[in-house]
This record gives sequence, structure tokens and C-alpha cells, in this order.
Amino acid sequence: MSKPLSNIVVLTGSGVSAESGVATFRDKDGIWAKYDYRDVATPEGFAADPVLVHSFYNDRRRNLPAVEPNAAHLALAELEAGLTARGGRLTLVTQNVDDLHERAGSKNTLHMHGELKKSTCMHCGDVCDCVSDLSIADTCSVCKREGGMRPYVVWFGEMPRFMDEAMDAILAADLFVSIGTSGAVYPAAGFAGEARNAGVPAMELNLEPSENAWIFENSRYGPATQVVPQWAAEILSQSLSQ
Ligand code: APR
Repeated sequence: MSKPLSNIVVLTGSGVSAESGVATFRDKDGIWAKYDYRDVATPEGFAADPVLVHSFYNDRRRNLPAVEPNAAHLALAELEAGLTARGGRLTLVTQNVDDLHERAGSKNTLHMHGELKKSTCMHCGDVCDCVSDLSIADTCSVCKREGGMRPYVVWFGEMPRFMDEAMDAILAADLFVSIGTSGAVYPAAGFAGEARNAGVPAMELNLEPSENAWIFENSRYGPATQVVPQWAAEILSQSLSQ
């Protein structure tokens, strides 16, 4: 009888939040079909037109209260709680800047691309909660300087957060699972290969095969609200019965 899985790393992308009403990026009607990422998601874009960039993220932050965690977010939180109760662990590494994993109850979550509900000061580096609109007129509550507040979001050309923690968790895991991401953006897209190189099995749950689908030993395709709860229930029943 095989040993039940007890240490799982899950990587999520925008596909996990799609059925909650949060737009993905590269799908036909995704965010990058409406905006050029260079204008709204690079330091150069912010320097050129901070008003546009603030407006882009303000709109997305304002949308958060209108959306709810879906069955996939809830299943991942339940899986984390179930594994933890059995002495195991689930590390959730997300590329998403929404707060739906937290609102579903996930605890051990690494936001590698930052969080919409935080802002940071480019002058002093302070990071603080942010629930309302940001503007170029905002003053940092710590250093009191004006014009340096920006969304706490990792832009193209910037270093994602928690890379060491994510890699350590992947290398120690029994299973790496990628959910709702196209595999188009590195370093997240490289996690599955890193896992496989370290002998950690890698699995993909996505609406359709991602750009790096060939790396995964196992895959299940369908809407996240269907495939994620089904997979999570299988893992929990395996842990219970063995
Ligand atoms: N269920 C599961 N998967 C879905 C669903 C769904 N209901 N809807 C869409 N998907 C899948 C798509 O098939 C696609 O593979 O989610 C993936 C979304 O891919 P992208 O739009 O590229 O989003 P993501 O992978 O999160 O992008 C990574 O790119 O620009 C950046 O910083 C941004 O964090 C983001 C990063």
C-alpha cells in the first residue's frame, strides 16, 4: 500500500479565481487583451503614467468585495486543514493578487506576485494595508513623503516574493500541483520542472493543457470548481483510509 500524501505544494494562477468573476490574463477576453502589460504592469509604465496604473489597480481592488471564493478556493483551504490535522502540510503558492484564498480559509499562503490589498512606499519601502484607492497625491504614513505610494504588486521585470520559501517547500514535498495557470510566466512556470528534477511528482489541474503541460506526469482538465474539489476529496479520503 502506498504512503498517503502528507506534504503538498499547490501553485495557483488566475484560473482558480475565474469562476468567482476575477478576470484571467491571457484568455481570449483576459486582462492582457484589453491592456498592454507594459503600460500597467512594469516600473517603466508606472513612471510614464502613474495615474493610469493607479486606476488599473484601483478598479481591480474595488472589484474584490463583489467577488466570493469559489468551490476550488474552499477545497484547497479544507485540504490544508485536513492535512494539517493529520500532521501534514499544504503550502499554497499563488500568483494571484486577490484575497480569495485567505477568505476561503487558507492559512499557509505565499503571494509571490504581491497583494492588491496592500501598498508600498517607493521612498522608504514601508508596506501597509490598502483597502481604498491609491493616487499620486497619497502620502506615506511612515516617511510622510508624497508621490511614492504604489500597489504592492510584482510587475514584469521585478523579483517575485517568497522564492526561497516556495523552492524549499517544493523540494521537500510529496507532490507539486499546478492549478489554473497558463505556465507562461517565469519563475512560477519553472516550478514543475524544478519539482520533477528533484524527484517530486508534478500534477496539473487546469481548464485546458497549459504551455508546459508536457512536464506534468498527471493532469486533469476541466473547470477549477469541479476538478479541484474532486482531487482534494481524493487526497483527504486517501489520508483517512490508510
Ligand atoms: N478553471 C481552471 N482553469 C481555468 C479556468 C477555470 N474556470 N479558466 C481559465 N483557466 C486557465 C486557462 O486555461 C489558463 O491556462 O487558467 C489559466 C490562466 O492563465 P493566465 O491568464 O496566463 O493567468 P496566470 O497563469 O495566472 O498568469 C500568470 O501573468 O501577467 C501575469 O502577473 C500576472 O500572475 C499573473 C501571471
